[in-house]
Amino acid sequence: MPQNLRIVYSVEPDAAALARQAAEYFVAKAEEAVAARGWTRIAISGGSTPKTAFALLADPSQPWRGRMPWEKIDLFWVDERCVPPDHPDSNYRMTREAMLDHVPLKPEQIHRIEGELEPEIAAARYEELLRSRFGLEGADVPRFDVVQLGMGTDGHTASLFPHTKALHEFNRLAAANHVENKDAWRVTLTLPVINNASQVFFLVGGAEKAQILKEVFEEPRDAERLPSQLITPAGGILTLLLDRAAAALLPPTDAQGMGVIERTE
Ligand code: 6PG
Repeated sequence: MPQNLRIVYSVEPDAAALARQAAEYFVAKAEEAVAARGWTRIAISGGSTPKTAFALLADPSQPWRGRMPWEKIDLFWVDERCVPPDHPDSNYRMTREAMLDHVPLKPEQIHRIEGELEPEIAAARYEELLRSRFGLEGADVPRFDVVQLGMGTDGHTASLFPHTKALHEFNRLAAANHVENKDAWRVTLTLPVINNASQVFFLVGGAEKAQILKEVFEEPRDAERLPSQLITPAGGILTLLLDRAAAALLPPTDAQGMGVIERTE
C-alpha cells in the first residue's frame, strides 16, 4: 500500500546548535504530551550523536532542565547493545552518565533493555515491560509520544541493520538481532512500534552522514540495504533534525533553515 511520507527537516549551523535544537524538541514534545495526556513516554537511541543533547537536558544552567516535566516521563530505549549496563558500549550507560545521574527521574521511570541477559530473553522481557507499562492487550502496539532515532553511515537505525532478520519482524514489539558485520547481538524496538509513535525524529549530524542521508531520503527505495527507509510513521510525517554538514546533499532549505521532501513509497 503506497504511503505518502512528508519528511520535514530542519538544518542547524553546527553540532552545538543541533544539540540545542534536539533538547528543545525533546522538551517541547514532552510538554505537549503531558498537557494532552498528563504523562509522556519517550524512546531514545544510543550512539554518540544524542549525548550532547542529553547533557543539555541535564544542565541546570540551561533552560531545558527546568522545563522538562521529569516527574511525568517514562523513559525507554529504542535499542541496546547486548552488554552489561556498565559496559562502555552500553546505550544505558551513555545516557546515565550524560543525563540520568543528573536529573530527577525515579528508577521506576527508567526502563532499560537488559543487555546483560541472553538476547532473546532480554527482548522478551523488554516486550513484557512495554506491555505492562502501556497497559497493552492482545496484538496492541505501544504508541510512544516521541521516538528519537539516529542513523549509521550504513543506513541502519535503531538496531535495524541492513540485511538483518529484525527488518522483517512485524509480530513482536522488541527483537534480538544479530549483526553479522559487528559479530554482535542487539535488542531493538521493531518497526511496528517505531512507526506507531506520535512523533518520530532522526537526530543526525556530521559530514560523514551526508551521503547516507541523501541515499535514504532522495534515492529509490532499497530498504534491505537502507533500513532507515522503513521508518514511515503512521501519521505520515517524519522529522529530521540535522546540522549543515549532514544536510549538505539534501535539497536546499528555506530562509528559516527548513526543508520538505515528499515521498510516496
Ligand atoms: C546505537 C544506536 C544507533 C545509532 C546510530 C548512529 O545503539 O548505536 O541506537 O542506531 O543511533 O548508530 O550512531 P551515532 O549517533 O554514534 O552516529
